[in-house]
Amino acid sequence: MSAAEVDAAQLHALAVDIAREAGELAKLRRSVGVALAATKSTLADIVTEADREVEDLIRARVAAERPGDGFLGEESGADAGGSGVTWVVDPIDGTVNYAYGIPSYSVSIAAVRGSAQPGAWEAQAAAVCAPALGELFSAVRGGGAWQDGRALHVTTETPAGALLATGFGYDPTTHDGDLQTVRTVMPIARDLRRGGSAALDLAYVAAGRLDGYFERGLNPWDFAAGALLVEEAGGRVSRLDTASRRPMLIAAGLEVHDRLVGILG
Ligand code: IPD
Ligand code: CA
Repeated sequence: MSAAEVDAAQLHALAVDIAREAGELAKLRRSVGVALAATKSTLADIVTEADREVEDLIRARVAAERPGDGFLGEESGADAGGSGVTWVVDPIDGTVNYAYGIPSYSVSIAAVRGSAQPGAWEAQAAAVCAPALGELFSAVRGGGAWQDGRALHVTTETPAGALLATGFGYDPTTHDGDLQTVRTVMPIARDLRRGGSAALDLAYVAAGRLDGYFERGLNPWDFAAGALLVEEAGGRVSRLDTASRRPMLIAAGLEVHDRLVGILG
């Protein structure tokens, strides 16, 4: 094993360990009720006390175990590190599900190399933990993707059309455009899901539970971990319109990916 592989394996082990602990904390806090802390970009864009507490836990563990690394978190922002590794973290992806008591929420943690900008980084390790579902998905660059020890593979055949998922941003003024996008994609779809956690949608593509996923306007922490899961499960991830305010993310097995890029590109 090369030094880079050893490092990626260590990052993976740490990402998994922290994601499990953070997931347990999120689940515990959910069991005693959710306190809304604030609204963010729009009224629909919420943050709970648990989002902040879970991110604090993840930050503290990274700082204790890898003090030279950078951090980019949804709730607490960016800190540059000196090691070349940055942790890109969504403490609770699917906060609205979480607030409503829907179990489809996840802790998403990626360790990336290079600049902490999507497109400029190379993800090394990823963990997406869905504590209320009892599932943990993880990947290491060049080493594969797994769910609790089982290797993951994207789908390759979609004879009845592709089971697709998408999401909508919090800004109501973007909904019409996103619904128009759905209309253009439906001819290749078997059906469409809207799960409410982008990180889990991507994990499901990696696990072959979805054939593909597309969404505009995601933040880096929404997809940093999930994108590595999909790639390591044999799929492809593309970002289109990267100069726009709302780039389009597409993730799927190769054939569905190329069809989606053909329609949405
Ligand atoms: C959101 C979820 C949702 C997606 C939104 C994201 P949050 O993240 O991933 O599925 O459609 O675009 O912002 O706010 O729950 O962390
Ligand atoms: Ca998110």
